[in-house]
Amino acid sequence: MALPPILQNLRIPVVGSPLFIISNPDLVIAQCKAGIVGAFPALNAREKEGEPIMLEAWLKRITEELDRHNQANPDNPAAPFAVNQIVHRSNARLERDLEICHRWKVPIWITSLGARVEVNEAAHDCGGITLHDIINNTFARKAIEKGADGLIAVAAGAGGHAGAQSPFALVSEIREWFDGPLLLSGAIANGRSILAAQAMGADLAYIGSPFIATDEANAVPDYKQMIVGHGAEDIVYSNLFTGVHGNYLKPSIARAGMDPDNLERSDPSKMNFGENREKPKSWKEIWGSGQGIGAIRTVQPAARLIDTLAAQYADAKAEMRKIVNG
Ligand SMILES: Cc1cc2nc3c(=O)[nH]c(=O)nc-3n(C[C@H](O)[C@H](O)[C@H](O)COP(=O)(O)O)c2cc1C
Repeated sequence: MALPPILQNLRIPVVGSPLFIISNPDLVIAQCKAGIVGAFPALNAREKEGEPIMLEAWLKRITEELDRHNQANPDNPAAPFAVNQIVHRSNARLERDLEICHRWKVPIWITSLGARVEVNEAAHDCGGITLHDIINNTFARKAIEKGADGLIAVAAGAGGHAGAQSPFALVSEIREWFDGPLLLSGAIANGRSILAAQAMGADLAYIGSPFIATDEANAVPDYKQMIVGHGAEDIVYSNLFTGVHGNYLKPSIARAGMDPDNLERSDPSKMNFGENREKPKSWKEIWGSGQGIGAIRTVQPAARLIDTLAAQYADAKAEMRKIVNG
């Protein structure tokens, strides 16, 4: 099935995925101007009691800056942007944030941790599409039953709340019954891997951790350098920090005084995505990352990272053509 028009005409088939704390309007605008979908979690836009609503201000800025860019560059328009909603009972802001996104006609809605009919309806009502992230085929079916337009298959090795399944298995099982938009998430960090995601059956690559090491990202310099200086063997999969399994940088855990190779287990009832989603003090500097960061060698502007991905993707396609043509 053809991709919905909003996902066609990207410079490369990539969505810059939403990153808790890290994604901000600077990063999203840079990603969209450079030709990939940029995204941020609605919960990143926080105001203090009594202050104007930050989500409103972010959407205004992103919408206006991208409009200005499109007027000045009619032949090279920006890619659309996406807002991520955590659809979990602990997210007390959900209803308010949905109303704001509906009013601003957010074009792409990414939903995590819960598939709900009303959320999909709100997106469709303002002309948007929804992409729901899942870690297995059962959740994938449920998401489509509840009205999501597309799926984000979060496979093993992804940053944040990663799945545990091989991307080959996950994408194959979903493609048996679903021919709509399918994104693949997990350790994709170069052009060859983007093409590999498509060869596997996905439409688009969903890339997170590499964007932590960009100038625009809201991360402290040490975090950015830790992404640059480490690789897959420095990542540990644990549920200790949020109650859900995710991938983390071992050196950040060691620095907080814990042994990353001997972490205790937590339980899912500790999940909390409310506004007070504060980590215990000692966990403040436990940093999330996927396994793909071996490909990331420098902190740079997001546009330069996207230029590199685009050049690598073109090279990978040329190489693949040679293989296909024998
Ligand atoms: C630090 C960090 C924070 C994340 N926060 C969110 C989030 O708030 N919402 C969400 O849907 N996904 C979140 N993710 C998951 C990403 O959107 C995406 O699935 C993942 O980063 C892709 O794998 P990669 O990091 O190997 O590229 C986060 C990932 C990381 C590394």
